[in-house]
Amino acid sequence: MRVAMIGTGYVGLVSGACFADFGHHVVCVDKDADKIAALSRGELPIFEPGLPALVQSNVREGRLAFATELAGPVSQADAVFIAVGTPSRRGDGHADLSYVYAAAREIAATLDGFTVVITKSTVPVGTGDEVERIIREARPQADVAVVSNPEFLREGAAIRDFKHPDRIVVGTEDERAREVMAELYRPLYLNAAPILYTDRRTAELIKYAANAYLATKITFINEIAELCERVGADVQEVARGIGLDNRIGTKFLHAGPGFGGSCLPKDALALIKIGHDHEASLRIVETIVAVNDQRKRAMGRKVAAALGGNLRGCTIAVLGLAFKPNTDDMRESPSLSILPLLTEAGATIRAFDPEGMGEAKKLLPDLDYCGDAYQAIEGADALVLLTEWNEFRALDLTRVRSLLRAPVVIDLRNIYQPEEMTAAGFVYHSIGRAAVAPPAEISPSLRAIA
Ligand SMILES: NC(=O)c1ccc[n+]([C@@H]2O[C@H](COP(=O)([O-])OP(=O)(O)OC[C@H]3O[C@@H](n4cnc5c(N)ncnc54)[C@H](O)[C@@H]3O)[C@@H](O)[C@H]2O)c1
Repeated sequence: MRVAMIGTGYVGLVSGACFADFGHHVVCVDKDADKIAALSRGELPIFEPGLPALVQSNVREGRLAFATELAGPVSQADAVFIAVGTPSRRGDGHADLSYVYAAAREIAATLDGFTVVITKSTVPVGTGDEVERIIREARPQADVAVVSNPEFLREGAAIRDFKHPDRIVVGTEDERAREVMAELYRPLYLNAAPILYTDRRTAELIKYAANAYLATKITFINEIAELCERVGADVQEVARGIGLDNRIGTKFLHAGPGFGGSCLPKDALALIKIGHDHEASLRIVETIVAVNDQRKRAMGRKVAAALGGNLRGCTIAVLGLAFKPNTDDMRESPSLSILPLLTEAGATIRAFDPEGMGEAKKLLPDLDYCGDAYQAIEGADALVLLTEWNEFRALDLTRVRSLLRAPVVIDLRNIYQPEEMTAAGFVYHSIGRAAVAPPAEISPSLRAIA
């Protein structure tokens, strides 16, 4: 099949490369000429494990190409995906659909022959209706079906998620469109990935409901972590104890500094707005948004408390800036809420992230950026672990201990075990577990901050 992918960001580039890898002919289109120029030179504008090789091989095989203009690719396509951004609209939290509608207008102008237009962007219920209205108004005679096909991939594991999805959701009641969608995804249901066919509005809502549910799980365990700290329980074991119940499941029960990223925060806000628009109150979702915002601020206070309350003159090493490991995406990262609180309180921050620093430098210009983890740690009064990159899971603790001015570690991802940290001589603070200090050599001042 011939595919035009409109929008070549995290979702468009991964989906385009994977469809090409399935054997389809894909042109990824983006308005951002720098992005397309970089891709045409063989350089990837984003960090995603495995993506460079996948893009390279499919370009080499002649199944994947890049363009800034959509006219040619759309007129030749059997399927046109809209994978542009749908950020929060400034001021009110509604999904900003201007990019989706602009793409729909441009697509309408160049459609040729029966074409399935598929919204892969996360969009509010009814957006497919409006995309269809825009296209039919511009081209009343166009032979087109508009389908919703939300994307569930996770950055950092995007290729695996695309090729081995838990499910594929297809919202359409058009028989010809179903056939095109079945053909596009055929390699996946040969792998037994379930395809859920439903109507377009239901498909649109499935995506928001899924993200809101995941955000709820995270927020729930974060509140339980808070309680664990007060009552002397261990949140890791509580999570395991409840997660082993098949009705609950173990995923998304890792307590941390609050959810971030390009999807969960904006999608929760947009779902609340959809509820308001249709007079259906979504109080659970409203609450998780408020609790999550408070959580990120509380993490700033937790770091300050671990350093005795006064950060003026303190140097803090921070490992991890991106919202999660294996991505360079900084959108709504907890670091963006937590670190300004620390610098405003007078701390100097020495930071390192394996992939996120390019973007972080634009958003957090006041940090001292370091070349590696140990450089960031050298001479700091405390180490904060903010994103659980694998390379931070296996730090040389003896070296860390010798480089830090004070042996204080605040682990906001529970990467380490309290016993190993006390054995290595640290005062160790984590999430949902009691702070611990090495009993033998603890000094009175360290005991006070532990
Ligand atoms: N990032 C994720 O992990 C993820 C996962 C699932 C769903 N989604 C959803 O997918 C959509 C895209 O997300 P993303 O993270 O890939 O966004 P992104 O910001 O990384 O990429 C969007 C791209 O679209 C381009 N664009 C905008 N208007 C265009 C137009 N008219 N023609 C051509 N290109 C245009 C932009 O230049 C940009 O490169 C969003 O709705 C998001 O909610 C994202």
